[in-house]
Amino acid sequence: MSAHVFWAPGRVNLIGEFTDLAGGPVLPAALDLGVRIEAEAAETIDLCSRELGGRARLTPDGSQLGDESEGWTRYVAAVATELALLGRPDVGLEGEISSTLPIGAGLSSSAALEVAAGLALCSVADFPLEPLELAQAARRAEHRAVGVPCGILDQAASLLGRAGNAVLLETGSLAYEYVPLPEGMALVIIDSGVSRRLESSGYGTRQEEVGRALAAFVDRDPLDITLPEIDAKEAGGGLDSVAARRLRHVVSEGERVHEVARLLGDPTEANLRRLGEVFAAGHESVRSDWEASTPELDRLVELACEKGAVAARMTGGGFGGSIVALTWVGEAADLADSVTDAFAGHGDSPIMAYVCRASDGAAQIS
Ligand code: GLA
Repeated sequence: MSAHVFWAPGRVNLIGEFTDLAGGPVLPAALDLGVRIEAEAAETIDLCSRELGGRARLTPDGSQLGDESEGWTRYVAAVATELALLGRPDVGLEGEISSTLPIGAGLSSSAALEVAAGLALCSVADFPLEPLELAQAARRAEHRAVGVPCGILDQAASLLGRAGNAVLLETGSLAYEYVPLPEGMALVIIDSGVSRRLESSGYGTRQEEVGRALAAFVDRDPLDITLPEIDAKEAGGGLDSVAARRLRHVVSEGERVHEVARLLGDPTEANLRRLGEVFAAGHESVRSDWEASTPELDRLVELACEKGAVAARMTGGGFGGSIVALTWVGEAADLADSVTDAFAGHGDSPIMAYVCRASDGAAQIS
């Protein structure tokens, strides 16, 4: 048996934040940062990682053999369990994990780990899954590992990514199409240094609140609910104001996703100006209606716009993490430098900027 290499990227969501909690559209791109696993078939699962620290020692169906049941090993265990439930034969995996993704930056380091582990486990057991089947198993693994009721965004983006493109994914039907990014567009990601962990953030509370709002619209497809209907239901006492605001964000954000996809497809000067406005409206909606921004993210978005970004907004699960700014390749490094210099960080760790390209999704690379 010889070792194989598996790669799964992190993602940046251009727009469509938290919409996957109600089956709405998202528009992520896979990054050129990610998780790499070099491993071969074995009797048990035995994976170590210098960067992440620790070692996962598990039965092929995900039961712990060692005493490490914290940290990243939980994700690997949960993926193995989910795949076993789908019928994956009992084949182990021995090797090493490495990662270029910052942890806690909101760039889906856990989803990339789940997807890379899932690909490797499927490959050594000759148990192929369609990308979206694997994405769904990896999403269930996230729930199992840390109890977070996340949507499908991160895992699907890691698997479906395509170089030079964003993925317009309807998270209800799972229909998707590619949206080519304008020639020469770069993705500048700036990590506020305020570390986020979905487990301890208000993510779960927000999901309950939007669930409460959807329950007030019995028998309605969430994608058909309109803003005037939310206003009317709130005014009539059928919806509390918190739930109304959460749903307002999801509904308005869904409209912004489709508008951004259209604007990216026809990047005239006027459309790029409009792109900036739509991103700004998206950020404001996360800040005021969804209430998941932070002063650091607000300031970074403001600075990115001041320093010439085409568009900028917070990205990912909120309550810390990163912003995404769209700019041109020739200006990306300057933008990253000028924003980081101007920002007086209050984060847990120093502010970091990454100039990324939209990249291909997860794959076995050798
Ligand atoms: C996290 C979740 C995703 C999605 C985003 C917000 O990344 O894992 O499913 O809800 O937050 O858009």
